[in-house]
Amino acid sequence: MNDADFLTKPFEDLDGEGRRKIAQHFQSNAYPKGFKWNWKDVHHNRVALVNYVLRKLPMDCAYLEIGCGGNDLFDALPISDKTGVDPVKGGTVRLTSDDFFDTNSKKFDFIWIDGLHEYTQVHRDLINALACLKPGGWIALHDLMPTNWKQEHMPRMHLGWTGDVWKVAMEIAATQGLDFRLVLIDHGVGLLQVDPGAEPLADMESELLNERFGWLYENIDRLPLAEWDEAVAWIDSRAPS
Ligand SMILES: C[S@@+](CC[C@H](N)C(=O)[O-])C[C@H]1O[C@@H](n2cnc3c(N)ncnc32)[C@H](O)[C@@H]1O
Repeated sequence: MNDADFLTKPFEDLDGEGRRKIAQHFQSNAYPKGFKWNWKDVHHNRVALVNYVLRKLPMDCAYLEIGCGGNDLFDALPISDKTGVDPVKGGTVRLTSDDFFDTNSKKFDFIWIDGLHEYTQVHRDLINALACLKPGGWIALHDLMPTNWKQEHMPRMHLGWTGDVWKVAMEIAATQGLDFRLVLIDHGVGLLQVDPGAEPLADMESELLNERFGWLYENIDRLPLAEWDEAVAWIDSRAPS
């Protein structure tokens, strides 16, 4: 491998040596503290959460997934009207989210956002999702809660990468009329509904673009964190059976 290859190649294409080099290269960005959550000890995951919400919707509801990968979630949902958008694999539509939303006119009851894990992309995905959400629908976003600086680092330098999607969680929490919980399962799942008269999504790019994991750690109180039981009680309160 060329000396600087590890900085230009996608992380997935790096071998063990490349991954060691990129970790060393960015070691100066280390932040000493981290969150205690160990997702393997929490026995509910995103599949359980999405299925729980879908129970509140009719079986003919329309589901959209942005970023499908191995279809682990997509194939675990019992409904029929499913659209999955991914430029590489999985789902039903081989496009980037931007290209899909450019021409989409369909409205959805549930939208799962889990494509490119970069803040500005997910901000755009959420604005586009809000525009095609049916009244009373739900939007969820994956990977909102890195537990340490390596998981959050931009560019990617860790297998269990969440990227800086957490910045969109800060924006949702700052937007009047978006009822939002950040559920503490499976690397952090954001779930929201839109109340009548909701404001447009807050844009915190000028404040957050260059912030890193340490900023999230210091400002975690701004987020409406919910354990599984609290999340379920909140979902029930929004959508009684
Ligand atoms: C973490 S995987 C998705 C996992 C899946 N949603 C699940 O819950 O099992 C992320 C996927 O996003 C896709 N992706 C990357 N960039 C994207 C983009 N611009 N638009 C849509 N999907 C994208 C990748 O190809 C990858 O398959």
